[in-house]
Order: sequence, then structure tokens, then C-alpha cells
Amino acid sequence: MNTITKAFDSAQVENAEKQITVRKNMDFSQNDIPKYWFAGSPFKTRVADSLQMTFPVGERYFIESVRAYRDDITDDKLKSEVKDFIMQEAQHGISHEQINDLLRAQGMPIDKMEKRLKSILNNHTKKLSREFNIAHTAATEHLTALMAKAFFHYRSTMQGVDPNMRGLLAWHAVEEMEHRAVAFDVMRHASKASEAQRYTAMALVSTLMPLFTLARAVIMLRVDGYTSFQIARMMVSKDGLPWLFAKEGILRGITSEYADWYRRDFHPNMHPMVHNYQDWVDVYEKTGDPIEAGNAMWAAGY
Ligand SMILES: [Fe+2]
Ligand SMILES: [Fe+2]
Repeated sequence: MNTITKAFDSAQVENAEKQITVRKNMDFSQNDIPKYWFAGSPFKTRVADSLQMTFPVGERYFIESVRAYRDDITDDKLKSEVKDFIMQEAQHGISHEQINDLLRAQGMPIDKMEKRLKSILNNHTKKLSREFNIAHTAATEHLTALMAKAFFHYRSTMQGVDPNMRGLLAWHAVEEMEHRAVAFDVMRHASKASEAQRYTAMALVSTLMPLFTLARAVIMLRVDGYTSFQIARMMVSKDGLPWLFAKEGILRGITSEYADWYRRDFHPNMHPMVHNYQDWVDVYEKTGDPIEAGNAMWAAGY
């Protein structure tokens, strides 16, 4: 028994590890998605748009970082999880790129933003070590799994969100939870990434991701026609930065799980799954409809 398993209640760890299921051909009726799909709020919508527009390029980078170790993985279970991880991430990229097409049609400079991100991440792949890239990927995967909790733990967070977008985000959240340990296990078992690289990667990504997300959201709001003054007012309103960072903001409840990354015995499966994970799975298995499954997951929030 390894130290991680010893450190946590075994029932909880068992509950925390789920089968990675590859689901294809997801249809989120993107043509019916309203411009301000996040409860009619321009600020919330553009922050979420700004985050989601990075997923196709970001997920390709995660795939590359994990693939770089394909010949070093000896464990058959991990090999097969890597395959499923790659397939899940590829599907996420396809669906989020469809949303990016909607944003392009609204005049958003998605091509420019994707090009910039691609050039940063290509530089990482070419110039930084394989170890740092897998540590960076594992750190970002920890954040994406925590986002699943941040968005779906409480019903109030996704109140008033367009059901197609909520369905897309719920499906993505469920699969991020399922494969949350894969990049970490590759880093631990197939790479020689140091603890210093692991901590530095998280410190970097958790600082830069919110900053870049907000910066792109501001650009999008400017394209929407809002003035700098109007954007500044949006940011200080209760639906602005307090919605994200205040005591009652959506990032509440994930700070201690975020901080656990810096423990030496951290493992993604030390945390329970988002409590309404199974509600999504049950409805999806019954109906094959990811929008209904997303509704069920949301309705089961606390
Ligand atoms: Fe993903
Ligand atoms: Fe992921």
C-alpha cells in the first residue's frame, strides 16, 4: 500500500476513482445558444467564454505532454488510461471549438487569441523539459477538476445558464473528474519531474490563468461595445470579481483542495468526486442526451 492510499480512508479513495468513459458525438445545439448565455450577464459570459476558448489549444498541449511519455509507461492500466484521456480531451476540443466558431461569428478575435496561446504552449513543448511540461499539465488538470466542483457543487452557481452550455460544461466537468489523475500518474510513474517543478508549475499556472482569462474577457467586452468605465463598473459589481473571488464567490470551497497540491503526499484521488457526478452518469446512460444529463447534474446541486 503506498503512502497516498494509507493517508486517506480507503472507501473515500475508492469512491474517488471512476472509470474513464470515452463519449463521442456530443451535440449541444450550439446554434440555439444566446450571446450572453451565462444568466444574461455580459461579464460572467465573457469570463467563461474567455476560459473555454483556451480548451481546444490547451487540451492539445496536455495530450502532447502526456504522449511524450508513451514509451516510458510500463503499467498496463495507466497505458489504457492514457489512451482514454487522449480520446476524452480530443472530444472536448471538438465541442469547444464549435463554441469558438460561435464567438468568431460574434466578431471575437478568437484566431488571434488561439494563435498567441498556441505559440506560448509550442514554446513550452520545444524549449522546456518534458518533466516541466508534464508537471504543468498535471497542475492544470488539478485546476480543471476543481473547476468541475466550483461550477456544479452548488445549484446557485449555474442558475439561469443556457441549458446547452450548461450541458457542455457538465459533460466536460464529469470527464475531467474521471481522468483527473492520469497526467499526475504519468508524471509520478514515468517521469523524473521534481517536487520543485511540480510546485513551480502550479504557482505559474494558477497565477497566469486567471490573469489571462480576465484580460481576454476585457477584450471581448470591448468588442461587445462596452467602454472601459462600464467594464470597470461591471468588475466591481457583485456579478463581477466578487462573483469569482469573494467569500461567497464561486471559487469558495475549492481553496483547500487547491492548496493540497503543495502537500508531498498529494494525489488527485484523495478528494471525493463532485457529489452530483453520478446524477449526470445515470441520466446520460438512460437518455443518451448530454443536455438532460447536465440539467440533472445541475438540479442535484446543493
Ligand atoms: Fe478536457
Ligand atoms: Fe483534462
